Amino acid sequence: MTADTTVTVRVPAKVNLQLAVGPGREDGFHDLVNVFHAVSLFDEVTVQEARPRSGRPDGSTSPGEGPLLAGLTANGHSVSHLSRVPLDSSNLAAGAAELLGGETGLGRPVRIHLEKRIPVAGGMAGGSADAAAALVACDRLWGTDLPRETLLRLAAELGSDVAFPLLGGTAVGRGRGEILEPMDSPGRYRWVFALSPHGLSTGAVFGEYDRLRPDAPAPELSTALSRALAAADPVALGRALTNDLQEAALSLLPELERTLATGAAAGALGALVSGSGPTCAFLVGGGAEEASVVAEREAAVVASLEASGLCEQIVRAEGDVPGVVFM
Ligand code: C5P
Repeated sequence: MTADTTVTVRVPAKVNLQLAVGPGREDGFHDLVNVFHAVSLFDEVTVQEARPRSGRPDGSTSPGEGPLLAGLTANGHSVSHLSRVPLDSSNLAAGAAELLGGETGLGRPVRIHLEKRIPVAGGMAGGSADAAAALVACDRLWGTDLPRETLLRLAAELGSDVAFPLLGGTAVGRGRGEILEPMDSPGRYRWVFALSPHGLSTGAVFGEYDRLRPDAPAPELSTALSRALAAADPVALGRALTNDLQEAALSLLPELERTLATGAAAGALGALVSGSGPTCAFLVGGGAEEASVVAEREAAVVASLEASGLCEQIVRAEGDVPGVVFM
């Protein structure tokens, strides 16, 4: 069999249905209860064999290249979002290739291309999704064929949100978010996402959280949320959505308050900041609801957000969806 010379992987964004944040830990992270829900907003990551570099006598690489990264490109709709994608070895997708190559000793020079649809620095784990996709794509390209548990471990090393896209669906993450357990969630839901022209740094939002909540309690999974998901009840789900980082994100970008209020006033069943923001997520229906009822609510929320002039872009999606898929 000839080995693939190009591998493309599609990977979903996530929205957090619950993000409960405990006090800061000694390692700089926070203990979380993080309910991830994969939604149909996808990046596509392509990895391609690059010709081995002629090599310098000292084995050094050009600035921006890692030992294995031979090039990184990105494309997508939004110029403002693309301008925030690092195109060098600091991109987490490049980090994934380097980590896999280091772990197996079988890495070969690779070009990585990111086709971006997930908002960048938007609280929907787009960078983490790209890293997860690059990890499984390089694993296929290089024929390293690691067991799933090893891929999950490497993903967790790369970042708190990198393991989840390997699973997809709806899952609770504990620890710093990387210890995953799938949740019972038989329903499908429609979502509207309001993208901001601004990005928020995850670290900065956690820092603001520490300032606002020095007395944060240990995080616990919401019983109301688990019940709503198990019953596929969209109204109960809308009421159960919570995000401890929301206050911190609003403190850094106060205009988000108006975005949330606009979608809620237009009839959304739930409205919250996604992850560390600034993307705002609106649940507009699902479960056993009539499709026409959901479509009407969705149209009303989209129209109000559009009329508000507050958002850079408004996108519709559904969840949950599966994790990484080879194309
Ligand atoms: O793990 P990841 O690289 O995505 O985390 C980015 C930043 O978010 C961390 O450097 C840390 O400041 C913050 N973070 C945290 N606690 C977590 C996850 C992330 O404080 N559980």
